[in-house]
Amino acid sequence: MDFSHVEADLAKTLITEEELHAKLQELAREIEADYEGKDLLLVGVLRGAVMVMADLARALQRHIEMDWMAVSSYGSGTVSSGVVRILKDLDSDLTGRNVLIVEDIIDSGLTLSWLRANLESRGAASVEICTMLRKPDALKVQVDVKYCGFDIPNEFVIGYGLDYAEKYRNLRGIGVLAPHVYSGE
Ligand code: XMP
Ligand code: MG
Repeated sequence: MDFSHVEADLAKTLITEEELHAKLQELAREIEADYEGKDLLLVGVLRGAVMVMADLARALQRHIEMDWMAVSSYGSGTVSSGVVRILKDLDSDLTGRNVLIVEDIIDSGLTLSWLRANLESRGAASVEICTMLRKPDALKVQVDVKYCGFDIPNEFVIGYGLDYAEKYRNLRGIGVLAPHVYSGE
């Protein structure tokens, strides 16, 4: 879906499809160089990371494997508590694997710092993080993000996998949601 279909719902457009794809090419070149000669398992976090995973995986000019996890933070929907529940676990054994967690967005960083520790405890050779977006709050928690697409302002964003009430995930770019959408007008 293009921005033109949701103009009335957006406060502004933030990142276009072209900018996302250009950034993914840059990240893919870095990842190729860093993992040269090593196996690479991309772990996508459902559901938001689906688009990033699909595009990053195809941008990489090498063999990779993909696996998926679904997690949910306990507590209210909008504030991360840091207590995470696994809704769907990986199918792969991580022993000795080089794992790259692929995420759409890091907000507080609590989900990812938990996830990284969890995957490390399974005997992976390495666990790194690639996120398309990072909000400034992420800096408050110690999460070492090796690959980050864009640092964005602390506003609620949608598109490219990110949803509001399960909508907008199929928007090609990323936009800031207009307040009237979530205040119920
Ligand atoms: P942490 O633990 O880093 O959680 O606070 C990150 C998760 O919070 C969700 N999130 C958003 N989802 N637009 C969204 O659609 C946003 O602006 C946003 N900020 C955080 C998202 O599920 C992410 O995985
Ligand atoms: Mg997510």
